[in-house]
Amino acid sequence: MAPPSPINFGILGCAFIAGKVSRAITLSPNSTLYAIGSRSYEKAAKFAKENGFPDSAKVYGSYDAVLDDPEVDAVYVPLPTSLHIKWAVLAARKKKHLLLEKPVALNVGELDVILEACESNGVQIMDATMWMHHPRTAKMKEFLLDSSLFGELKSVHSCFTFAVDKNFLENDIRVKPDLDALGALGDVGWYCIRSILWAADFELPKSVLALRGAVLNSAGVILACSASMQWEDGKTATFHCSFLANLTMDLSVVGTNGTLRFHDFVIPFEENKASFLTSVKSGFTELVTGWEPKPSEHTVSTDLPQEAHMVSEFSRLVGSIKFDGAKPETKWPTFSRKTQLVVDAVKTSIDRGYEVVEVKS
Ligand SMILES: *[C@@H]1O[C@H](CO)[C@@H](O)[C@H](O)[C@H]1NC(C)=O
Ligand SMILES: *[C@@H]1O[C@H](CO)[C@@H](O)[C@H](O)[C@H]1NC(C)=O
Ligand SMILES: *[C@@H]1O[C@H](CO)[C@@H](O)[C@H](O)[C@H]1NC(C)=O
Repeated sequence: MAPPSPINFGILGCAFIAGKVSRAITLSPNSTLYAIGSRSYEKAAKFAKENGFPDSAKVYGSYDAVLDDPEVDAVYVPLPTSLHIKWAVLAARKKKHLLLEKPVALNVGELDVILEACESNGVQIMDATMWMHHPRTAKMKEFLLDSSLFGELKSVHSCFTFAVDKNFLENDIRVKPDLDALGALGDVGWYCIRSILWAADFELPKSVLALRGAVLNSAGVILACSASMQWEDGKTATFHCSFLANLTMDLSVVGTNGTLRFHDFVIPFEENKASFLTSVKSGFTELVTGWEPKPSEHTVSTDLPQEAHMVSEFSRLVGSIKFDGAKPETKWPTFSRKTQLVVDAVKTSIDRGYEVVEVKS
């Protein structure tokens, strides 16, 4: 049995999202905020102070110093996507387990370099797709797997949008070709694609077709796009992702016997509980004036926010490697890789003028 030692986290960089994950590490059992590194020591010190790092936490003026600290078990990497390959590979070589922000890489070729480094150094990698870890997600999966309730999957529709301001469109790293070249596709489309794959039990689609009308900025970075996917057995999916429309996080999963729907799939409306709607064998009322039965709402309470569930699961896996000699869990990198493959296919479809792109693993 593993000793109850906490997993020591180091954070590379002071990205905005790192504040949320720092809080999650604090809330999560068996996880400790141990070190923060930034290119500027002052920035790192300020971040540590503002984000509840314990007084004992190490503050470093470089990312390398975090990776060189032998007490650091795992690193959270919220750096711009173009820097992932360098820092994720270095971290793996220093035997640090990796919680890597999404999109995990600029393309699957880069991701494979990262995954190879993790595998050959025996470290766990997990991407920071938080909603996957909400207890609601597991509940919804039970519904989807119940053929008498849901039946066979036919179609998925996913939408994640938020409206950014002028400053974001000019200055945010997510619109810069040298930092986050995948733009809205990598930032918000990632979640849509992940939700579709999740609903399809991570069976990859056969082909992807981006819909005409993607919006790109003058540097060619995607600000909004839509795409469709098709599977061998006739299942289909669509998604829309955008920086140019007001906030939506919608997911509909359509089966032969039932339907799953909800409107806050990436970030629940509330932190301590989340709901979803299911319809099972709905029809019309006798005079076709309404639905019968109506959808039912299911609410799942949670003591911890979804990002703390994510950190706990990651620390559990790291702990079993560190203390029990377990092997890294392959499920999470497989999910990352499949998501990246579909992201790449959508990008390729747009780049080729909206051609159908076969998805090859
Ligand atoms: C924390 O670690 C201990 C010892 O490894 C383990 O028994 C316990 O289940 C862990 N707690 C969580 C919430 O992972
Ligand atoms: C759907 O429900 C019916 C019973 O109402 C059942 O016979 C059927 O096997 C279920 N599954 C599918 C895939 O439609
Ligand atoms: C949605 O629109 C409202 C009104 O313009 C704006 O205040 C709000 O910031 C927008 N939110 C997002 C996330 O797009």
